Amino acid sequence: EVLDAAGLHVLPGAIDVHVHFRDPGYTHKEDWDTGTAAAAMGGVTTVFEMPNVIPPTSTPEGLRAKQAAAAKARVDFGLYGLLGEENLEHVEALVAGGVNAFKLYMGNTFGDLPSPSTGAMLEAFEIVARHGLRISLHAETASIMARRTQRLRDAGKDTPLDHLRSRPAVVATEAVSRACVLAEWTGARIHVLHISSGDELRPLREARARGVDVTGETCPHYLLFDERAYDEIGPVIRVNPPVREKPHQEALWRGLADGVIDMIATDHAPHAPEEKTRNTIWQVDCGFPGVETQMPLMLTQVARGRLSLTDYVRLSAGAPARAFGLFPRKGALIPGADADIAVVDLAREERIAAGALHSRAKVTPFEGMGVRGVPVHTLVRGRFVMRDRALVPGTEGWGQSVGRVQRMPEPRPRHVDQTMAAITA
Ligand code: NCD
Ligand code: ZN
Ligand code: ZN
Repeated sequence: EVLDAAGLHVLPGAIDVHVHFRDPGYTHKEDWDTGTAAAAMGGVTTVFEMPNVIPPTSTPEGLRAKQAAAAKARVDFGLYGLLGEENLEHVEALVAGGVNAFKLYMGNTFGDLPSPSTGAMLEAFEIVARHGLRISLHAETASIMARRTQRLRDAGKDTPLDHLRSRPAVVATEAVSRACVLAEWTGARIHVLHISSGDELRPLREARARGVDVTGETCPHYLLFDERAYDEIGPVIRVNPPVREKPHQEALWRGLADGVIDMIATDHAPHAPEEKTRNTIWQVDCGFPGVETQMPLMLTQVARGRLSLTDYVRLSAGAPARAFGLFPRKGALIPGADADIAVVDLAREERIAAGALHSRAKVTPFEGMGVRGVPVHTLVRGRFVMRDRALVPGTEGWGQSVGRVQRMPEPRPRHVDQTMAAITA
């Protein structure tokens, strides 16, 4: 097929290493069909999908249930296995079953999966370090937030801004620092999800200077919103970690510019509209969809001169491909080498409207925002899944596991003392 792309730009499809498609278990929020439809419409050709579903992707059975659900995918996907206090005996089976990365919740968030103790976390890192797969971290320290939330609730506090007060930047920074120490000790490769504060950048930078293989992402909402969002948008903005004050936002932009933050992911976290507007802020589910709006929002920043197009491609495709081993070993060293492509119109203007999004969760904090620069065609392995801003019918099931191409570098386990080696042997 010949595509007349006159006036358009051909980019590698985005690789979004942080999405929640809710299937199985919460399919009133999203499923693999609607989630990957949103991805295709957003110029995203590969997603890495999170394990906080029912049953959690923490056992071989949980993984099989996830793989069955993912058979509907329209774009390529990696699957996260969960690392918890209680499932370390399943890690080997999860690797053998084909997980592409692991997820560890250091603090509670949607799904209320318990966060492992530091002891269990060290063992988990040691086990995964033998395989070389990357461990993505929800880096928020559970015990700090639990105490602060309780104090706010006891005092009758209940405004959107109280969500931010319950999770100040120390919550994330303490967790990032601790994770980096454990990664250094074990040789585990780690990835810091949803970096929301300037404070997290220092431990990240220092760990990297010490040779720790740590990557990090931030998300469009942390780059585009600040504390005014709590008033202007209301409870819909509730997300973990929270959108923070302006100086944090500015530090995140600097972090993108100087390379401390490697990539942009969305933390696509759909919830039904009624779940985003409950009586008290503490009952409102955390997160919102993002996989369809990332590319238009960030291309708008390119149009405004905040980011170069080359940097955008590195942040949305090159860096995630490198961190998660998606470069084919032999062959072209560019993401999109197997024709995973977003064809974009950098001059096209649209307005974001929740009702027009393809996620089942028709709610977005970006409602009404004008964007300049949108994907008009998306190709996955050479096949159109979106064409002329419309989903291509019959593409359900075209998506494949990235296991086909994923090659992580050799594992480099290290610093493991004999006692710990004996415990986890
Ligand atoms: C995510 C979800 O809803 O699954 N929510 C969120 O606020 N980010 C979970 C998470 O990534 O922490
Ligand atoms: Zn998280
Ligand atoms: Zn998430």
